[in-house]
Amino acid sequence: MSFDLVLFGGTGDLAWRKLMPALFQAFRHGTLPEGGRIIGVARDDLTDAQYRALIQTRFDSVEGAKRPNAEEFARFADLLQFVRMDLSRPDDYARLAARLGEREADTVVMYVATAPALFGTTCEQIAAAGLNWPNTRIVLEKPLGHDLASNRAINAIVCRAFSERQVFRIDHYLGKPSVQNLFALRFGNALFEPLWRRETIANIQITIAEDLGVEKRGAFYETTGTLRDMVQNHALQLLCAIGMEPPINAHADAIRDEKLKVLRSLAPWTPQTLSQHVVRGQYAAGNMGGVAVPGYRDEAGVNPNSRTETFVALRTEIANWRWAGVPFYIRTGKRLASRDAHIEVNFRPTPHAIFKAPLGAANRLVINLQPKDGLELHLLAQGQDNRQNTRTSAQSLAPVQLDLDFDTRFGAERVGAYERLLLDVIDGRLNLFVRSDEQEEAWRWVEPILDFWQGDPQGPRPYAAGTWGPSAASAMIARDGYCWSEEC
Ligand code: BG6
Repeated sequence: MSFDLVLFGGTGDLAWRKLMPALFQAFRHGTLPEGGRIIGVARDDLTDAQYRALIQTRFDSVEGAKRPNAEEFARFADLLQFVRMDLSRPDDYARLAARLGEREADTVVMYVATAPALFGTTCEQIAAAGLNWPNTRIVLEKPLGHDLASNRAINAIVCRAFSERQVFRIDHYLGKPSVQNLFALRFGNALFEPLWRRETIANIQITIAEDLGVEKRGAFYETTGTLRDMVQNHALQLLCAIGMEPPINAHADAIRDEKLKVLRSLAPWTPQTLSQHVVRGQYAAGNMGGVAVPGYRDEAGVNPNSRTETFVALRTEIANWRWAGVPFYIRTGKRLASRDAHIEVNFRPTPHAIFKAPLGAANRLVINLQPKDGLELHLLAQGQDNRQNTRTSAQSLAPVQLDLDFDTRFGAERVGAYERLLLDVIDGRLNLFVRSDEQEEAWRWVEPILDFWQGDPQGPRPYAAGTWGPSAASAMIARDGYCWSEEC
């Protein structure tokens, strides 16, 4: 099956950091269909050969087994071409049309990896140039809009030019192997399903902690912030995966229907929950592994008086029969103590204690997303102390854990998120992509938070880089009698 993959933003950050390496990995694994062309599009004045040379420099910095050798890269580079375009100029699309018209590919993928402000224009112009063929697929990166109205406006433009089955809205978290395994755990195993409910689960915590700061994306981050960058999409998608009902089958719409129901069931915000159940923070200078790092306001491209958040912690509920009353906590931020994404399912303690156990001890299932990829099941057992146990009538229990590491079990060289998603687009599989109604619902839910912050004189709370965020995040969860994992 031949394909043409047009990469708008072909010299940009995303192409550089994620897409080219993912395409190369697919090529190396032999999963990229043969007869493909990867056509980079950008304003730069480059020939095909210069584009290949530029992309080669991307791989020069790669170390270890992922670094291509010269012969391997040369074969990959044969797929690369370049078309110079200013995306706001309708005439320039004729150049792309000419290149695509050189042959008839089975599938044409238009990957819009540009600044979000260009999404609408690009989609409109693709259609105006007559490039929205039935075999065209359009891929849109997040953030799709910066609020509900702008999201709707973009979706309206996209939907005028393409049918929903042609639109692939990326949330790369859905492509992570660990997230696939979350679906497998819940819907490929019967063990946990009877326990997956309010009667047995006390609370659920979703943490996506990054140790990096905003890097070179200060200007982008200033207009985005963590709520739009991480919560509206990645964190809410994880919440859907953990909270959704079993879909009737594994088809895209069956899965997306169930995720949509979760988003629609999220507890609406009230003035009280907005002030008590949402904490925003911004990193100040600090220390990461012994190295001093600047605060957010000192990063390039950032306003020295910025009120943009780099951390969010919040509490919500899914108001339905399965989950009513169970708090779901989300916490995500930059420059936190370590890179660590996981979901903790905290079960209720036994209803009646016949053993001595540490205060509040209960079962816990931890779904590790990264850097570890696996499952931990925390149980209580009789441990070292059984000599003492024999002398007392009340036996004491200690926490122990069952550990499943998917990297060890299946090998760490598994298909990465972007590799998986790019192959899905080329093959036309929509399961791991977000439908427009899901996205709108997620914006509808986060928008009251954005509005509340606009009128809130307090601004984000500072936290030192290298810590777990502002203390208000701990206070928020402590009010329910719980704690974040590293604090318990
Ligand atoms: C992106 C955000 O969507 O996800 C970045 O824009 C963030 O700010 C990144 O760093 C995190 O992705 P990952 O896969 O490294 O956890």
